[in-house]
Amino acid sequence: MNIGFIGAGGMAKALARKWAAKHEVMLSGRDLDKTKAAAASLGVRSGTAQEAASFGDVIVLATRWEDVFPAIENAGGPAAFDGKTVIDINNPVSIETFRTTRENGGSLTQAIADALPGAKVAKAFNMSQVAVWEDPDMIYDGRQLVTLYTSDEEIDETVAGLIADVGSEPLRLGSNAHAYQLEAAAAIVIKFLFAGRDPHTVFNFIQPEVKAIR
Ligand SMILES: NC(=O)c1ccc[n+]([C@@H]2O[C@H](COP(=O)([O-])OP(=O)(O)OC[C@H]3O[C@@H](n4cnc5c(N)ncnc54)[C@H](OP(=O)(O)O)[C@@H]3O)[C@@H](O)[C@H]2O)c1
Repeated sequence: MNIGFIGAGGMAKALARKWAAKHEVMLSGRDLDKTKAAAASLGVRSGTAQEAASFGDVIVLATRWEDVFPAIENAGGPAAFDGKTVIDINNPVSIETFRTTRENGGSLTQAIADALPGAKVAKAFNMSQVAVWEDPDMIYDGRQLVTLYTSDEEIDETVAGLIADVGSEPLRLGSNAHAYQLEAAAAIVIKFLFAGRDPHTVFNFIQPEVKAIR
């Protein structure tokens, strides 16, 4: 599968490194030289946001949450996402109030889905800090990390497979109508990360029983 990242920061690099073992990956950032160096260090491709959107069967929105909609425009606008699987990893959380910036049950994921009517959208990978995604096996006390996600039903299998490919057990919370809950839950995680808790100790689900998934 071809995976294009819009954004080439910490999260993009952590996920790209793992997916590169099984998939073709392209990173894109605003600074082409910096992106090129990051991509070279992982052995993946680099390009502009437009190139990454055109390259990916799956497109991961991996800028800071404030930059998601400008980044969609950079990538060519909504039409560039037609027919694509889009994964939203972003946490619209204020680091002053530690609350989601979306109110009344609305989620960033749903706003993205509304802006990209030709795409199928999922929310995933938002609940654990980047240091967790960087762990090579994500097994804690003998149990695999579980990744909660929401998705349009048509892409459920694709998203679950991509979660398994980074070494985590997928657990679907439901459709993107539930994405707000993942964003609000991430606000709890972020609050305690900022208070100094270890990234491996906040709000991670693990398998209910010890078993190997790969
Ligand atoms: N960090 C975590 O622990 C963590 C965990 C779970 C979820 N998340 C979520 O994941 C997202 C990414 O986090 P991160 O830590 O990877 O952020 P980051 O390290 O700051 O990286 C953001 C990337 O987006 C690029 N970018 C910004 N605006 C852009 C635009 N308009 N077009 C194209 N690229 C653009 C930046 O390029 P420049 O280098 O040019 O600025 C940078 O490469 C955030 O929304 C965050 O909420 C983060």
